[in-house]
Amino acid sequence: MSAVKKPELEMEPQAGSEALPDGTDLLGDQFKIERPLSNGGFGITYLARDNFLGRDVVIKECYPEVFCRREGKNVLVRSNQHTEKYRAIVEMFMREARSIAKLRHPNIVGVHRIFEDNETAYMVLDLIHGRDLLSVIREERHRLTPDQVKEILIKVLDAVDLVHQNDLLHRDISPDNILLDKWGNPVLIDFGAAREEASRETRAVSSVLVVKDGYSPQEFYFAGSKQGPSSDIYALGATFYHLISGEAPPNSQTRMAEFAGNNPDPCEPLAGRFPEYDDVFLEAIDKAMQILPKARIQSAREWMHLINSEEERVKPLKPRAKADLGKVLTRLVSETNEYVLNSEPRATKDLPPLPLPVKKVNSKPEWADEFNRETSEKSSDGGAGDSKRNTSQPQPGRLAVPEPTRKRGILAWFGKA
Ligand SMILES: Nc1ncnc2c1ncn2[C@@H]1O[C@H](COP(=O)(O)OP(=O)(O)OP(=O)(O)O)[C@@H](O)[C@H]1O
Ligand SMILES: [Mg+2]
Repeated sequence: MSAVKKPELEMEPQAGSEALPDGTDLLGDQFKIERPLSNGGFGITYLARDNFLGRDVVIKECYPEVFCRREGKNVLVRSNQHTEKYRAIVEMFMREARSIAKLRHPNIVGVHRIFEDNETAYMVLDLIHGRDLLSVIREERHRLTPDQVKEILIKVLDAVDLVHQNDLLHRDISPDNILLDKWGNPVLIDFGAAREEASRETRAVSSVLVVKDGYSPQEFYFAGSKQGPSSDIYALGATFYHLISGEAPPNSQTRMAEFAGNNPDPCEPLAGRFPEYDDVFLEAIDKAMQILPKARIQSAREWMHLINSEEERVKPLKPRAKADLGKVLTRLVSETNEYVLNSEPRATKDLPPLPLPVKKVNSKPEWADEFNRETSEKSSDGGAGDSKRNTSQPQPGRLAVPEPTRKRGILAWFGKA
């Protein structure tokens, strides 16, 4: 295995260590690996080039590192006793990719190709230029406004609703798995454990758990425990808890232990602490994050209804404002008519230019403008591969930077295998 050049993006220490070398061709000469982006223990993610379509893409390689090793380009099992398990995982990976490919939604990453090569499987994903929510949380200057946070949540809820309507679970919702594109649109990635027919998996597959402290609900820590849409709801709540409070919620296992011991919940609710947000909005997040699944919001739709009910309560203010505005406009129109009728005509060239319409505030974060400026100045690069940039500072409009995460569970399980 040749040494892999450290990409300019910050990576976990292990990332890329078993990755395919830069420049490797896949599926004949259809795709070329440009560089690895991350190695999450279950798969290796690369920035790659689609030579046929002439565009950059992201390719995810199935690489459950505890079971496999690299020999040349090929992925081989570490020992024959793992063959069956490894094949089951590759098949699950393919099935997941097919499931995600079916989910066509503006806030879910598009999968446009799945293929087998090098004794493993690959999925080709749309490349999202932007950054992940975790890096947005960590950078003060990119702080999102409450309106932006709300808009992002509503869009992610719509995406999660589609996932659940298709009998799938995401199972790994967290700030590093939600990318914000250059327009500020959230895109859900890394369906690390999305499964077709989630409830009917084989034993081997269903015991593969991916746990991320702070975001995973307590039921993810116990093999065989029931998981459902409310598990994703918990993780989404925890993600927005982090976004709003600036702190990741405590591990749900700790919360569970305190709950069992009748002790106070170490997770301080959001409601009442952030006056810039409506309490109904914050209470919904607190409810999504209840320890016991049945106490949580049960579905993305229910959550959206709660948010809408908050807006319904705010609405009555609007007609009054409209009425006032109507009066002012009537007065202005009659004053203007009076003025026009009583004054001399003026040469048009003396008139000042019309003011440009004021743009509606949307969820586009501050860095998006910076990004758009940069990409329009450096058009051919695609925003992802400018090696001259200073990499010590996170850059707007780069690929979302993989942040070190505290993922465990899957490795523990593999260790036992
Ligand atoms: N479609 C994409 N566009 C841009 N960047 C991406 C895309 N998919 C992944 N990335 C980047 O690569 C990182 C790792 O990808 P991903 O979250 O899919 O895998 P992981 O968490 O490393 O692995 P695992 O599947 O083992 O959990 C992301 O955090 C993001 O920075
Ligand atoms: Mg991830």
